[in-house]
Amino acid sequence: MSVSGKPRKKSEELRSHRWFGVDDLRSFGHRSRAYQIGFGREDFAGKPVIGIINTWSDINPCHTHFRQRAEEVKRGIWQAGGFPLELPAISLSEPFQKPSTMLYRNLLAMETEEMLRSYPLDGAVLMGGCDKTTPALIMGATSMNIPSIFLPAGPMLRGHWRGQTLGSGSDAWKYWAEKRAGNIDDNDWREIEEGIARSPGHCMTMGTASTMGAIAEVLGLTLSGASSIPAPDSSHSRMATRTGRRIVEMVWDDLKPRDVLSAASFDNAVTLAMAVGGSTNCIIHLVAMAGRAGIDLPLSRFDMFSRKVPVIANLRPNGKFLMEDFYFAGGLRALLGELAPMLELGCATVSGKTLGEDIAGARNNEPDVIRPLDNPISGPGGLCVLFGNLAPNGAVMKPAAADPRLAKHTGPAVVFDDYNDMAARIDDPDLDVTADSVLVLRNSGPQGGPGMPEWGMLPVPKKLLAQGVRDMVRISDARMSGTSYGTCILHVSPESYVGGPLALVRSGDMIALDVAERRLDLLVSDAELAARRANWKAPPPRYERGYGVMFAQHITQAERGCDFDYLHAGPATPEPEIH
Ligand code: FES
Repeated sequence: MSVSGKPRKKSEELRSHRWFGVDDLRSFGHRSRAYQIGFGREDFAGKPVIGIINTWSDINPCHTHFRQRAEEVKRGIWQAGGFPLELPAISLSEPFQKPSTMLYRNLLAMETEEMLRSYPLDGAVLMGGCDKTTPALIMGATSMNIPSIFLPAGPMLRGHWRGQTLGSGSDAWKYWAEKRAGNIDDNDWREIEEGIARSPGHCMTMGTASTMGAIAEVLGLTLSGASSIPAPDSSHSRMATRTGRRIVEMVWDDLKPRDVLSAASFDNAVTLAMAVGGSTNCIIHLVAMAGRAGIDLPLSRFDMFSRKVPVIANLRPNGKFLMEDFYFAGGLRALLGELAPMLELGCATVSGKTLGEDIAGARNNEPDVIRPLDNPISGPGGLCVLFGNLAPNGAVMKPAAADPRLAKHTGPAVVFDDYNDMAARIDDPDLDVTADSVLVLRNSGPQGGPGMPEWGMLPVPKKLLAQGVRDMVRISDARMSGTSYGTCILHVSPESYVGGPLALVRSGDMIALDVAERRLDLLVSDAELAARRANWKAPPPRYERGYGVMFAQHITQAERGCDFDYLHAGPATPEPEIH
């Protein structure tokens, strides 16, 4: 009997047995082609076949180390008596892919699911880390539901500039504002450019990548401690090998993603997201990931936890430190130790033990970096969900990274129809804008962007920067980078492109934000809005051909996770036919 309570599998019960183990013409073909690759019968006969889904690419700087890590995973698989096969998958490279990697998250999820289904695999190691790769791999593996374990890329090392540490994204936005305000010159800017990203690994602030890595760990999908190890650290190599060893055992134990994922583990993930002041993007991804496991995770659940969980990770963009500091402070294990009273510790993990057993003995070495619950860096409400006539199906914001002065604010709208309109006019000296204005950007949602690009941290107009303004209320149906900050209201749903109320706003309309009441309202009468709606015309389709057509037909709105409607959990997809 295995630790998961299921009987340990026999060789002939492995999924791969039907490819390699039976005596027929097709299996002759499978075995002869394995010999063609250079493997002998002793390499694969009767062994769990493990697919290593590797999102390495020359164009993904966050995954530069994945070629070597894949070899280290293979070492662990061989050690444990498995047969490793590396399968490259599309790499969603946040810094390079336009209009947004989010356009392709579901494509990677589908690719993962279909590779796991169509090849002779008994288990999978999922190698990701750069923002969308983590949810995508997990979504695909959850849908396929064969034993799977996630190996996070780990954060890159701290950036440096003239004695200051630099954090991915957060310090780029900060110094860009200083450059536009004329406080730093081109030479300074070039030095910052050269010093901000100095090793493999994902962004090392508590942005989307760090948030999603931590979420994968608290959901129980990684080995304990995996998500905090800096990418170039030799511990990361050892974790890769341990992960390879573990997946082989998981196959014999038949420990699958849906044995690990539960409503309680998703509650743990939401609790953790609040405690680390995580990226707003995690809300969309968590809803989609839960959906793949057949678990309903409404926005109200996020708001419920938001009201009681304080921010205890002192990490940028909400706090002071970077992921390397977090690792030396004890990493996620130490943070989960502090957060334990608010967690369901009985949840299962890929270790075959419970979350509580996994974090037993965790030590917090730096109580300024990982704060105890009674000394948080900010109280509950680090992420919040807003509703109102401007966002009937919800919107999100991150009060922990916003100017508290703007938490209750009413101001006149300055509307930009799309990103190009905003880029063309934001720094126009004649733009009718003051520090009290509310900047509105539309046509940036799932369909309108398309792909809901990270345009939600609209730049503060140059003339206001020169007056010393560094934050103002900004509203859009876009997302924003997890490394961003400011009073940015995001994911407004329904989006403007499909006729959501954001489409009806005109410059000069008054908009009211009340974070304490979780409200976002357009102060225009219902009759006037009805008249505007009657005149609203749907924009033409974004795509005439290709993947974009499928995307436009099936993408759901933000509160449903922006998954494709046909990929939510449903009846099991049949295994491929034998021949
Ligand atoms: Fe890859 Fe930020 S660019 S995680």
